[in-house]
Amino acid sequence: MTSPVVPPSSSGDGPTHALPDDVSRLVREAAARLGRAGIDTPRVDAELLLAHAAGVPRERVVSAAVMGRPVSSLLPARTVRAVLDELARLLDARAERVPLQHLVGTAPFRHLDLVVGPGVFVPRPETEQVAQVAIDEALGVARGSEGPVVVDLCTGSGAIALAVATEVPGARVHAVELDRDAHAWAERNVTRTREASGAVVHLVRGDARTALAELDGSCDVVVSNPPYVPPDAVPRDPEVALHDPQVALYGLGEDGLEVPRGVTRAAARLLAPGGLYVMEHAEVQARSARDMVAAVGGFEDIRTADDLTGRPRMVVARRARPTSEPDPAPGDPSDMED
Ligand SMILES: C[S@@+](CC[C@H](N)C(=O)[O-])C[C@H]1O[C@@H](n2cnc3c(N)ncnc32)[C@H](O)[C@@H]1O
Repeated sequence: MTSPVVPPSSSGDGPTHALPDDVSRLVREAAARLGRAGIDTPRVDAELLLAHAAGVPRERVVSAAVMGRPVSSLLPARTVRAVLDELARLLDARAERVPLQHLVGTAPFRHLDLVVGPGVFVPRPETEQVAQVAIDEALGVARGSEGPVVVDLCTGSGAIALAVATEVPGARVHAVELDRDAHAWAERNVTRTREASGAVVHLVRGDARTALAELDGSCDVVVSNPPYVPPDAVPRDPEVALHDPQVALYGLGEDGLEVPRGVTRAAARLLAPGGLYVMEHAEVQARSARDMVAAVGGFEDIRTADDLTGRPRMVVARRARPTSEPDPAPGDPSDMED
């Protein structure tokens, strides 16, 4: 039995695809189209775009496909035509490699759904592990009645800062973002999260290398996913190359580590002795990131940590404690006055 096909809207300027009304066939055909456009996860993207067009959770699309139901089973209140027109528009844009997260308007990060769009870096799954290291450290900081002080430098959408603020009870979280558009997205996420959960992030717009001087020497954790792409490494995926802001990607300098170097200096300034620094980098930068942290100075226990797929993706270091002269042992001749 063939499924009915809903003809394109006759408005003249609407989408031009005739899409089937059967959810299973619709998702299959949409996924085939996205696969031909070079998208790595065509089935997931097709399901998410249909869910977005219909205004329902993805699970309902998946179950309607399994049950062989028509699109009208998803949301009777909206016409099938309107949903399919919207889906056709979304598929056109996705096949042009507009990021899925820009089309649906949100990106998942740990347990959060962050609003994103043009002008802000889309948070990545590998950064969730960077946030995990910061969260684990903050949870372990004993501060008496006061919570740990955590700073997220280069916060973008606010992803890491908001994860810490919602997962570490009592944490006092600060976030810094330079770019005006990215800062505006972060502000939206900070407000939405505060309204939803009560978690507070103190967000400032400024240069991570000089911001928050009032916190110098008092922070327990400084975490950052700064721009670190070297000038000669142009990202391959159009979603990244064309839609992530340049200021979010390129770290400047020959090695892409000029901004990270400034961020590392800021971390040395902000951290209290014994505080933890965590910074994301590219897989090929593990050694140069460790060398960079050592060259900045003021850190010890400098090591590389992996992301969840086992790739070396972050440098972790502890702010050195000042070395004090050891007390002379009793009876030590140097203890005696002349
Ligand atoms: C790779 S993105 C990461 C965003 C976010 N931390 C995340 O993980 O999703 C880097 C961010 O750093 C910001 N940025 C670049 N240079 C900066 C600077 N000097 N000070 C503060 N933010 C900066 C960019 O605008 C961008 O939002």
